[in-house]
Amino acid sequence: SEVYRAGLSGIRPAVPVDFGALERAARKAVSTEAFAYLAGGAGAEATMAANRAAFARWQIWPRVLRDVSERDLSIELLGKKRATPFMLSPIGVAEMAHPEADVAVGRAAAALDVPYLLSNQASRPMEEVAAAMGSRSRWFQLYWSASDQLNASFVRRAEASGCEAIVVTLDTHLLGWRTRDLDAAYLPFTRGQGIAQYTSDPVFAELVRQRVAAGAGGGARPKVTPTLLASAFSIARAGARTPLVDGGVRAALRSPLPRAAIETFLDVFSNPALTWGDLAKLREWTKLPVLLKGVLHPDDAAQALDHGVDGIVVSNHGGRQVDDSVASLDALPGVVERVGGRVPVILDSGVRGGADAFIALARGATAVGIGRPYVYGLAVAGATGVREVVRNHIAEFDLTLGLAGHRSVAEIGPDSLRAA
Ligand code: FNR
Repeated sequence: SEVYRAGLSGIRPAVPVDFGALERAARKAVSTEAFAYLAGGAGAEATMAANRAAFARWQIWPRVLRDVSERDLSIELLGKKRATPFMLSPIGVAEMAHPEADVAVGRAAAALDVPYLLSNQASRPMEEVAAAMGSRSRWFQLYWSASDQLNASFVRRAEASGCEAIVVTLDTHLLGWRTRDLDAAYLPFTRGQGIAQYTSDPVFAELVRQRVAAGAGGGARPKVTPTLLASAFSIARAGARTPLVDGGVRAALRSPLPRAAIETFLDVFSNPALTWGDLAKLREWTKLPVLLKGVLHPDDAAQALDHGVDGIVVSNHGGRQVDDSVASLDALPGVVERVGGRVPVILDSGVRGGADAFIALARGATAVGIGRPYVYGLAVAGATGVREVVRNHIAEFDLTLGLAGHRSVAEIGPDSLRAA
């Protein structure tokens, strides 16, 4: 009713309600390179298209005369009642969309009480986002790095920042073949940082310090502060062109720090050697629930259960990693069947509105992650844009539920749909 009342009072929305119009508005709001990064997928973007086509193969089958005047959108997830079945999927380098980046997203998520998965590649340290969210739900998404010391540190910080769960993303141990980014001369360090979790981390600072010291014959022990690290990355990004704007930058220029910082980051960023056996380490680092994101095959879902995970996120990273790959919605039922209700199964990749969320739930998802739509809202209108986009998903979902003749999420099931 908030959406309709605003409309009837002649208040125009801050961001377009229609997804196509939203995407076009986002394209106008940011640089060509930034839009390539936000919107692009792997290869010929066939997986991206498949994600959408999979939704088109299912149709909601409405029922009538069922008193839907009271509707309950809530679900239970990880032992907590949640107001809606939505979450915000992790989006790294959000500064490409808006300077307030993750903090703006956190504020919007908190305002709507929708859990937010803080990205490992965030543009703002998780502690800042946590502060902006107060007591509202956030989870931390981990990219398992080659340094277990660093992994443990991120996880400890997530716990201290009030994150309710650790979500390990497993589909990005190598960066996908991102054609639009390649055409835009993709260089993460020239286009935005997404390294705030690293530059704010004491273990990362120590790794950089050790590297500098080793390079200097083991004698020098530079003091590596978060400001200095951030400056080092800026310098490495901009080459020698950076004006000397502050002491940190000058100090970084005088030292081999920029190089050491970049090399350390590249060394630790990913760990393609990771296997199932490594997951047990997480249990030593934290008591928080552990979820795996990027699971598509039922056999992997079964392995995940064998390794005691607390939840699965069925996702193909929005079609950004493997092209010509299985659509996320198509992978869902196989995973759901194998999991057999033992842990929650969250779906993302291709969700563009409330009706899509309804279909995902009917195909067996416990909850649904929003990705690109909210980051487009961020690009167009900052925190307000994110809030409107997410609110629109909730509003459309509420209407779809009622118009389909359902009173609660629990009533959504296989019978709510037919194959197109
Ligand atoms: C992502 N995604 C992502 N996933 C993750 O685990 N960590 C990350 O840092 C990022 N970063 C990221 C950046 C951008 C610009 C996009 C679009 C996506 C994947 C994300 O969490 C989610 O799986 C997809 O966005 C879902 O697909 P759709 O709905 O956006 O198509």
